[in-house]
Amino acid sequence: MRKQIVAGNWKMNTNIAEGAELAKMVIAQKTTLKTDVELVLIPPFTHIHEVAKTVSGTTIKVGAQNCAEWSKGAYTGEVAASMIKAVGATHVVIGHSERREYFKEDNHLLYRKIKEALNNGLTPIYCCGEKLDEREAGKYFDVVEQQISESLFELTGEQMQKIVIAYEPVWAIGTGRNATAEQAQEMHAYIRKVLAKKFGQDLANSISILYGGSCKPSNAAEIFAKPDVDGGLIGGASLVADDFIAIANSF
Ligand code: PGA
Repeated sequence: MRKQIVAGNWKMNTNIAEGAELAKMVIAQKTTLKTDVELVLIPPFTHIHEVAKTVSGTTIKVGAQNCAEWSKGAYTGEVAASMIKAVGATHVVIGHSERREYFKEDNHLLYRKIKEALNNGLTPIYCCGEKLDEREAGKYFDVVEQQISESLFELTGEQMQKIVIAYEPVWAIGTGRNATAEQAQEMHAYIRKVLAKKFGQDLANSISILYGGSCKPSNAAEIFAKPDVDGGLIGGASLVADDFIAIANSF
């Protein structure tokens, strides 16, 4: 059985008080969950510590949205995986499309970040997904396969086992236009096939693959019902505790 995960990527939203409040509301509603889906809250760096303190004693996990490719040193403005770990995070998002687009992060750099995260005991949530023009040109399988192979294929099987993948078609992120459940399933199954070829079927079967991109209470159940969809990486809807919990209750 693969782990079901619903992770809330708060992006550059909330201040520390709002973040703690949101975490408290998620804790309060968590009792309504029907499955043992793992919840991960992913606030900005500045309030990871506060949110981690707020959720301590619960099963809710906390993540960062990015980490440095280096372990320490003269890299002004960067935050190391070890620092993220030390303030209570267990997860880190690597390769979100906004990082790829605005900060020019490429697959090889993301491989180095993944290794830093793993070396410091963090679970990477590795994001992949094609842009609209790549989908329209019929290149989406190739694009995602390249993202997977260039960032993950140098990992050992043991390291790979610790990775969570998020398929997030860029055209669906923040647009209100989600991928259909069929489109998500098709790509998730493809990703699993790519992983199976490299790491073996058993390992591929054990990896949680999340869907992200305009996932909301109204569409989550249909998407999560697909056999290769193991949960979601939620942006906008994760800022509203009711919606986040409703999504987590959609299995
Ligand atoms: P969205 O973002 O749910 O607001 O579309 C998803 C993401 O960027 O992880």
